[in-house]
Amino acid sequence: TDRTRLAGRKVLVTAGGTVERLDPVRYFTNDSSGKMGYAIAEAARDLGAEVTLVSAKSSIPLPSGMTVVQVQSAEDMYHAVMDRLDTMDLVFKSAAVADYRPAETAPQKIKKSEETLTITLVKNPDILEAIGRRKTGQFVVGFAAETENLEEHALRKLNRKNCDLIVANDVSVEGAGFGTDTNIVRVYDKDGLVEAMPLMSKKEVAGRLLRLAAERMTRQRVSP
Ligand code: PMT
Repeated sequence: TDRTRLAGRKVLVTAGGTVERLDPVRYFTNDSSGKMGYAIAEAARDLGAEVTLVSAKSSIPLPSGMTVVQVQSAEDMYHAVMDRLDTMDLVFKSAAVADYRPAETAPQKIKKSEETLTITLVKNPDILEAIGRRKTGQFVVGFAAETENLEEHALRKLNRKNCDLIVANDVSVEGAGFGTDTNIVRVYDKDGLVEAMPLMSKKEVAGRLLRLAAERMTRQRVSP
C-alpha cells in the first residue's frame, strides 16, 4: 500500500453507537462496538491523513494519532460533524445512529408505578442526509446496516442521502455487522455495485474502502 496516498487529506470518521438518554441511569443504544469505524480511522491515519474521529459509545480503546471527539447522542454527533464538515476532504459515516430518541429525558430516575409504561420517541436529525445537502466537494461514504433487500435499501439510502459510495452490510449474516472483528460488505455507487467483499477482518475492509475512496477522490480532483 502507498503509505502517503492520503497525505495531508482531512478525513472525518464517525463510529460507535449513539446513546439516547431516558433518565439519569437508563438509555437506548445499539450493538455497535466502534470496531469498523475505528479500523477506518486507523487505516486513514496510517496512509498519512489528518484524521478526526467522532466517536459515540464503543467497547474498544480509543485510537491514538488523531483528533478524537467523544459524543453521546445523535444530536451531539450531528453538531460535532456539521461544525467540522467544511474543512474535510473525505467523510466515513460508519456510526450506528439512533433514528429516534426519547421525547423527554427525565431529570430524575423514573419510578416504577403502573403496569405499563409508554415512552414517546421523536425522530433524530439524519446526519448523513444533512452532510449530503451541505457538502461542497467532500467525498462522502455512507453505510447501510440491513437485514433484508440489501441492494435495494442501500441504493435508496445512497440516493436519498446523496453519498458518493455506500457500504452495505447484511447484519443478519454470521461474521458481518455489529460487534464482530470481521465484516462482509458490498459497496455501491449511483451506477450500482462497485465491489463485493468476502468475509474479511474489519481492518482489511477499512484498507479496501480507503483505496476505493482515494482513487475516486483523485479522479475528482481538479488539479494534482
Ligand atoms: O461498530 P461495529 O460493531 O464494528 O459495527 C459496524 C456497523 C455495523 C455499525 C457499521 O458497519 C455500519 O453499518 N454502520 C451504519 C449503521 C447504521 O446506522 O446504518 P443505517 O442503515 O441505520 O444508516 C444509514 C447511514 O445513515 C449510516 O451511514 C448512518 O451513520 C447514517 N445515519 C443514520 C441515521 C441518522 N439519524 N443519522 C445518520 O447519519
